[in-house]
Amino acid sequence: MAFLLLFLLSFVFNPANAQPRSSTIEPGSSLSPNNNSYWLSESGQFAFGFYPYGNGYSVGIWFENIPQKTVVWTANRDDPPFTGDAMLHLSTRGRLVVRPTQGQEVLIAGVANAASSASMLDSGNFVLFNSSSGIIWQSFDFPTDTIVPSQRLVVNNKLFSDVSKTNHSSGKFLISMQGDGNLVQYPVEAVAFGFGYWNSKTNGAGYGVSLNLDNDGLLYLQNATGFNITSINNRVAASGKTIYRATIDADGIFRLYSHSSNQSDNWSTEWSSSDNKCDPIGLCGENSYCVLMEGEPVCQCPLRFVYIDEEHKELGCRKNYSLDACTGRNDQTFNFSEQIGLSWKDNNAYNDFISSTEITCRSECIRDCNCEAALYNNQSCKMLKLPLRFGRTDISRQTVTLLKIGGELAGPGTGKRKLRIDILITSLALACSTLAFLVLAAIGVLKYRSSVREYRSRVQEYERILRSVNNRIAKDVALKSFTFEELKDATNNFADEIGKGAYGTVFRGVISDGDGERTVAVKRVEKVVAEGERDFRNEMKAIGKTHHKNLVRLLGYCYDGTDRLLVYEYMKNGSLADFLFKSKLKINWEGRVEIVLNIARGLCYLHEECETQIIHCDIKPENILMDDKGYAKIADFGLAKLLMPYQSKTYTGIRGTRGYVAPEWHRNLPITVKADVYSFGIMLFEIVCCRRSVEADVPENEQVLVHWVYDCFKANEVEKLVRNEEITNSKLERTIKVGLWCTQDEASSRPSMKKVILMLEGTVNIPDPPLLSSFLTSP
Ligand SMILES: *[C@@H]1O[C@H](CO)[C@@H](O)[C@H](O)[C@H]1NC(C)=O
Ligand SMILES: *[C@@H]1O[C@H](CO)[C@@H](O)[C@H](O)[C@H]1NC(C)=O
Ligand SMILES: *[C@@H]1O[C@H](CO)[C@@H](O)[C@H](O)[C@H]1NC(C)=O
Ligand SMILES: *[C@@H]1O[C@H](CO)[C@@H](O)[C@H](O)[C@H]1NC(C)=O
Ligand SMILES: *[C@@H]1O[C@H](CO)[C@@H](O)[C@H](O)[C@H]1NC(C)=O
Ligand SMILES: *[C@@H]1O[C@H](CO)[C@@H](O)[C@H](O)[C@H]1NC(C)=O
Ligand SMILES: *[C@@H]1O[C@H](CO)[C@@H](O)[C@H](O)[C@H]1NC(C)=O
Ligand SMILES: *[C@@H]1O[C@H](CO)[C@@H](O)[C@H](O)[C@H]1NC(C)=O
Ligand SMILES: *[C@@H]1O[C@H](CO)[C@@H](O)[C@H](O)[C@H]1NC(C)=O
Ligand SMILES: *[C@@H]1O[C@H](CO)[C@@H](O)[C@H](O)[C@H]1NC(C)=O
Repeated sequence: MAFLLLFLLSFVFNPANAQPRSSTIEPGSSLSPNNNSYWLSESGQFAFGFYPYGNGYSVGIWFENIPQKTVVWTANRDDPPFTGDAMLHLSTRGRLVVRPTQGQEVLIAGVANAASSASMLDSGNFVLFNSSSGIIWQSFDFPTDTIVPSQRLVVNNKLFSDVSKTNHSSGKFLISMQGDGNLVQYPVEAVAFGFGYWNSKTNGAGYGVSLNLDNDGLLYLQNATGFNITSINNRVAASGKTIYRATIDADGIFRLYSHSSNQSDNWSTEWSSSDNKCDPIGLCGENSYCVLMEGEPVCQCPLRFVYIDEEHKELGCRKNYSLDACTGRNDQTFNFSEQIGLSWKDNNAYNDFISSTEITCRSECIRDCNCEAALYNNQSCKMLKLPLRFGRTDISRQTVTLLKIGGELAGPGTGKRKLRIDILITSLALACSTLAFLVLAAIGVLKYRSSVREYRSRVQEYERILRSVNNRIAKDVALKSFTFEELKDATNNFADEIGKGAYGTVFRGVISDGDGERTVAVKRVEKVVAEGERDFRNEMKAIGKTHHKNLVRLLGYCYDGTDRLLVYEYMKNGSLADFLFKSKLKINWEGRVEIVLNIARGLCYLHEECETQIIHCDIKPENILMDDKGYAKIADFGLAKLLMPYQSKTYTGIRGTRGYVAPEWHRNLPITVKADVYSFGIMLFEIVCCRRSVEADVPENEQVLVHWVYDCFKANEVEKLVRNEEITNSKLERTIKVGLWCTQDEASSRPSMKKVILMLEGTVNIPDPPLLSSFLTSP
């Protein structure tokens, strides 16, 4: 009754407005784009209905009482526009739908129960009521790119930017109210990698934090108990009646806008998350970087790179040369395109190490055929594969970007007279040879040239550089061969035992290297299969050649009489097993996911990227060590072959550890990298659930972890696996699915580690694992 009265009053007082100001919309009502009808809120501020979009119309909510008619919400924003003859109905059966003249009816509000009425509220919220006036659906629960005063962005909700000013499909950027209490902006493509570009710095403020906008233009965060944690902007000093909205714009910047009829009668920006339009990373595609030109962002290509599409520079850049470093070794040499002052926000370096000069960094990259680009900054050298991502200019100008490019060998007959240091470095690196050899080689190259003298002074210069390069390479790269006595001294006669594994006992030791002392882990290998010294040294070299940040680095070895010892970098934080099963501090979910990814990357390198494929054969939490930066590193790789000389054929006895070994071990089938994938899968479950793969003092159905996981997955109850943790179900399920694929009975059904990484990163879809598999028949 009250509603009806208001309806009449507002109608009477606004004779000029042909639109009914109806608070209550009854079933049977409809709207059509053709007669330009919409449902207004009581005060006339907001309208719900069709608005022109593209070649047709969309259904949405907009500010009706200002000239700009700004849209704040759109239904099904990623769908194509409706044609002019479509009709919107609040049907007599209580459903809010659009019926085009052709094709399927489109649901605007997905509710289980029939709505008894609807209303466009003055807050900007469009709601559906049930028969007892309870709200059963509201547009505020499905925000698009904007919030208005009194609307809140609750935990796990996100705003997605538009594609562009004229296209309201969901675009490249989002702002997310996270479960950890932080409000963070990401490029959509990089959420899974955690590459944000702005945040409210409220990480850890607790679960249930929401973003709010009050009527006076204050953006603030409130926690679940109603406590105001922080305000995002300063309170706006308003004059006259002002309206506000907060929008993540197509350019990726989150802005608070005000609109006052007093001033320009237009929106003006009160606050923005960033003043630099290059801040939103992801604006420019792969291998390109963002520069500001007259305040506007422009995507540019590094030297020797070209736009993928000249018309769409934001799509990124590609190499303007062909290069296959791993196959073309003999007839190709490499140079670098070098650019100073670019930064790439991507920690996807597969290797990083301390390198005292840029020259060492270059030569390491040339030496490693997987290296396509290197970043050198303050004695740190990062080696990467293309594409590089999220580039921009960096005013500190500290980083040197080195992009490996192909060149021709300046041999006889090419007519090139220029001596290139890069060639020398290449041959140095390729041959891994001594300085003497190199100088000879350099001189040998020069002998082809008529005017040796012309180059003499330059040669001397190069000799000097090479000597220092060679020294550094030796320090950064070479494996050291120790005598038994040396290691006995280093470990104080094997006094400090720090671990015992399948292959022997590990001791702490201290060795001196060039600059000073270094703590190391010395593994005294037992049970070595009789084998010649040359084979042993070759094996050591193969292990020594592996460089990856997720592998424990082998520094040296000892082959002395019957003694075999291996010297590794020391990991003071112990093993993953300690962290998972012994430590009182539980690693949080994000940390655990990161560890899983670290291990996957290391394993992928062993399987697919290093020179000789290495099957680990004993993947388990005891063999994963944690470094002081929290990276997980795989230990003990490459030893299975040393101790079991038939790796390339079939293993004759079971290696590895009970609980982690793949079924093929029991069936005398050939062992491939997929055996590691299986063990990885088992370990993944342990990391997710923070418990061992087999435990006795739990209910019987939970004792064998992989069975329990399988049962929970089948019953759609994965959350049972991680009691007391707030984890988005979809993320958990995704990780579990990867583990279920890895632990397939049939080796060929298991994914490669490369695929595992893509699945974990969220770049590929994961099909549901078959629901009748190994677990029922495992030994
Ligand atoms: C617009 O057209 C629809 C469908 O024909 C009709 O139900 C509605 O009353 C019309 N509205 C106005 C304001 O004419
Ligand atoms: C908006 O952009 C999306 C994706 O970029 C495209 O598929 C769609 O056709 C565009 N829509 C309009 C109306 O321009
Ligand atoms: C109407 O919705 C409210 C809130 O959602 C709910 O509590 C109530 O039980 C519903 N009433 C009916 C008749 O469905
Ligand atoms: C909200 O913040 C207050 C003050 O810091 C704190 O006492 C309260 O426990 C917090 N509530 C939640 C749910 O974190
Ligand atoms: C939090 O801030 C809002 C907006 O300024 C205000 O209305 C509310 O009273 C504040 N709440 C508390 C508990 O201070
Ligand atoms: C316009 O702004 C001035 C101050 O800037 C204020 O005194 C005046 O009341 C405002 N007028 C209206 C209509 O809001
Ligand atoms: C409002 O401002 C925008 C730019 O900020 C401009 O493009 C638009 O034309 C203005 N609209 C009116 C009605 O002044
Ligand atoms: C590469 O760049 C050169 C000039 O810089 C140009 O002539 C050539 O067409 C480019 N090649 C490709 C494949 O774009
Ligand atoms: C190698 O690259 C440098 C710049 O990075 C350039 O000066 C030099 O000419 C290049 N050498 C050849 C042979 O292309
Ligand atoms: C370079 O790195 C060292 C140690 O990592 C640090 O102490 C130093 O401040 C850095 N120098 C610059 C210029 O960033």
